[in-house]
Amino acid sequence: MANSDRVYADGSGPELSKLSPEFSALRYNAGPCLSEKNKRTTAMTILVIGATGNVGRPTIAGLLAKGATVRALSRSEESLAKLPDGVEGVIGDLESGDGLAEACAGAEKVFLITSNGETETARGLKAVEAAKAAGVKHLVFLSVGNPGKEPAVPHYRAKLPIEAAIRESGMDYTFLRPNFFMQTDLSVVPVMKEHGVYAMPVGSIGANRIDTRDIADCAVRALTEDGHAGADYHLHGPDTVSGPSAAEVYGKHLGREVRYAGDDVDAWAKPVEAFLPPWLLDSLKKMFIGQQQHGGAADAEAVTASAAAVGHPLRTIDEFAAEIAKG
Ligand SMILES: NC(=O)c1ccc[n+]([C@@H]2O[C@H](COP(=O)([O-])OP(=O)(O)OC[C@H]3O[C@@H](n4cnc5c(N)ncnc54)[C@H](OP(=O)(O)O)[C@@H]3O)[C@@H](O)[C@H]2O)c1
Repeated sequence: MANSDRVYADGSGPELSKLSPEFSALRYNAGPCLSEKNKRTTAMTILVIGATGNVGRPTIAGLLAKGATVRALSRSEESLAKLPDGVEGVIGDLESGDGLAEACAGAEKVFLITSNGETETARGLKAVEAAKAAGVKHLVFLSVGNPGKEPAVPHYRAKLPIEAAIRESGMDYTFLRPNFFMQTDLSVVPVMKEHGVYAMPVGSIGANRIDTRDIADCAVRALTEDGHAGADYHLHGPDTVSGPSAAEVYGKHLGREVRYAGDDVDAWAKPVEAFLPPWLLDSLKKMFIGQQQHGGAADAEAVTASAAAVGHPLRTIDEFAAEIAKG
């Protein structure tokens, strides 16, 4: 199927401006303050926790396109105001648990996205507990491919107790297990454009990286259709992308030479260590070292299964790089 024939869950074509705060801050079309504007309805409500991030935003767009009643939890009124019209916003914080009961009340389904960090397990467990207490019927959790893999990556391991709590909760559940996000590269685009260097130390074996919009499309299906309870969806992109091959495809679309910066995780960490907490920095370094040693390649059967779970042909790294080059 050609790109132009694809039907994405939000009804739109690829548009990076919907996805990354880094990439889209200038172009994001902010809506009015939703938590005041939108009233609850009696239709089935789907709550998205982690709604304003990489996967949450395209999921919300896809849910709205399907006519779902969508509620979003965020810590910030400002972030909620940037979500599309029609979303009911609830202010809450997984750290304290504030707002969680209100957010879950009356929701039939929940999409739980827990951002990475030292307290991720505790945050996720609070969300599961609140969903269960509110009588939520089905919880979809954004996990990772193999959270227990060795050598351990702490922000992968953090998901194991959350998954266990979900399994034991009595709610229906679906686990999404995505490969490395293509959108992670948005953080290195400016350096790539200015200096011709691809500074993501992913190594030379490669991983079948996935576009977060495809993850969102799978989430939308799991949240709006029957038949996804108990499913574990391993989500891979169609291409095995290494550091050197990513540099090549970005270079092709940017119209300049781009070289892979190499496998030095400490060099990668230097410019970000002022912004990232030490726990997360250490965990991300471990993740990159694991990618360098083992990669994250998926075989043809796994890619076919991923496309089936997403519901349409998978977005390619070539398409993603072309969008980046267009700005
Ligand atoms: N990056 C990858 O390649 C990859 C691959 C596989 C799996 N994953 C998993 O995907 C998940 C991250 O998904 P993502 O990138 O979509 O998320 P994200 O953008 O990092 O974060 C989602 C949202 O979480 C909210 N949040 C953070 N702390 C919160 C708190 N204390 N209470 C309530 N909300 C809070 C933030 O919203 P507000 O600021 O609006 O509150 C943020 O927009 C992680 O669990 C990660 O391990 C990532």
